[in-house]
Amino acid sequence: MFSFLWSKKKLIKDAGWIGVDMHSHLLPGIDDGVQDAATGATFIEELLALGYRRFICTPHVYDEVHPNTPFTIESSRDLLQKELNDRGMEVPLSASAEYMMSGAFPSLLAEDMLLPQPNNYLLVEMSYIVETANVEQLLFDISIKGYKPILAHPERYAFYFQNRNRINALKESGCLLQLNLLSPTGYYGKEVAKMASHLIKQGLYDLVGTDLHHQKHLDRIKQYVLSGKAYEDLHGLSLMNTEIYAGCVVRQ
Ligand SMILES: [Fe+2]
Repeated sequence: MFSFLWSKKKLIKDAGWIGVDMHSHLLPGIDDGVQDAATGATFIEELLALGYRRFICTPHVYDEVHPNTPFTIESSRDLLQKELNDRGMEVPLSASAEYMMSGAFPSLLAEDMLLPQPNNYLLVEMSYIVETANVEQLLFDISIKGYKPILAHPERYAFYFQNRNRINALKESGCLLQLNLLSPTGYYGKEVAKMASHLIKQGLYDLVGTDLHHQKHLDRIKQYVLSGKAYEDLHGLSLMNTEIYAGCVVRQ
């Protein structure tokens, strides 16, 4: 009986073991995420209640679709920061971006017009239907510029469903891989959940992010975390979410 009790797995029903959310769309009014500062601050309150302690906000940057610049991103961050201050919340909040690796991205990289994460991590994404041309070369160019590329949600790219080894190749070329917290739940569909489960089993993920855009995401994230299922599914990964900030002074 005792051995049965000891072997029973302890589920952790919060997100304290993730600590840092390094992928979210909480900066108001500049992409397809949160549209006003009050909602951004309320979402942060809810994530703090789940156990998150720090936030790196990563609005999309993609040509005319999401034509953000360091200026638009930092201005929006200031609006959210003011709302947090008005509520008396002291929350470490960093502004960065999620860069689409196409269109103007190579020029932004060449001209140092990027807003990286702490310690020069750089979150990048691709179209869901077409792989970025010469993606290895681009990842290499990113590294040469001194950034550490993180590929957002590799499990969501349909062109890898039948070509899983490409993801291993990207990882071997030095790119870090970030899982969307909701992918294993089936939120983005069965194929994405299957791919996430495959990559989790292989231990390929380095980071996990909420990719939080709206209330429906938040509701599902809370459900997944508070049930203990998120911990059960992901605790075997060697996540480096908190290491992004290693040695950095965090603005409060
Ligand atoms: Fe995102």
